[in-house]
Amino acid sequence: MTRSSLIAGPTPADAPARRPSGAAALAVALTLHTELWAPLVEYREESRWTSLIDPAAAAAVLDPSLHAELADAQIWLLSWLPGQGTDVHDHGSAAGAFAVARGTLTERVIAARVREAVHQSTTDLAAGRVRYFGAHYVHQVTNTLAEPAVSLHVYAPALRWMNTYRVERGALVRTGTERAGVDW
Ligand SMILES: [Fe+2]
Repeated sequence: MTRSSLIAGPTPADAPARRPSGAAALAVALTLHTELWAPLVEYREESRWTSLIDPAAAAAVLDPSLHAELADAQIWLLSWLPGQGTDVHDHGSAAGAFAVARGTLTERVIAARVREAVHQSTTDLAAGRVRYFGAHYVHQVTNTLAEPAVSLHVYAPALRWMNTYRVERGALVRTGTERAGVDW
């Protein structure tokens, strides 16, 4: 490193502020408001259960500082019995976040790399944990433990489609596309 690069390089003060996205803030705040979602939760033996949450109902319990984030947000409430989970999937053009509200979910993240095998990591997310992501984020979420789980998912813009994948010989192979109004 040269002296000039030391002088001209970015300093901590120049770095942009790093903070969770608005969707993550919404998701975490909503998990704290059990009065909003707990009475709605159902569990289904045959598959995960999902329900949309009315943004107006969310606004009624959230701090006003988060109301602007609700403008284009779509909020899903999901329940997961032990063993229930998703395929490997992306979120189409949507960005967003999900927070675990009850129980623990195991997230497997698959990162595709140019001319390299995909990189995979798996993390257990207990209640209170949050993940936020942009487009092209590929993951699989499963309830691998013995207790039912509940999570809140915030998408902005709304989730319109999702591609599903399998990992084959170190590469992501698309297996299908699921569309809002058709597949969920
Ligand atoms: Fe997802």
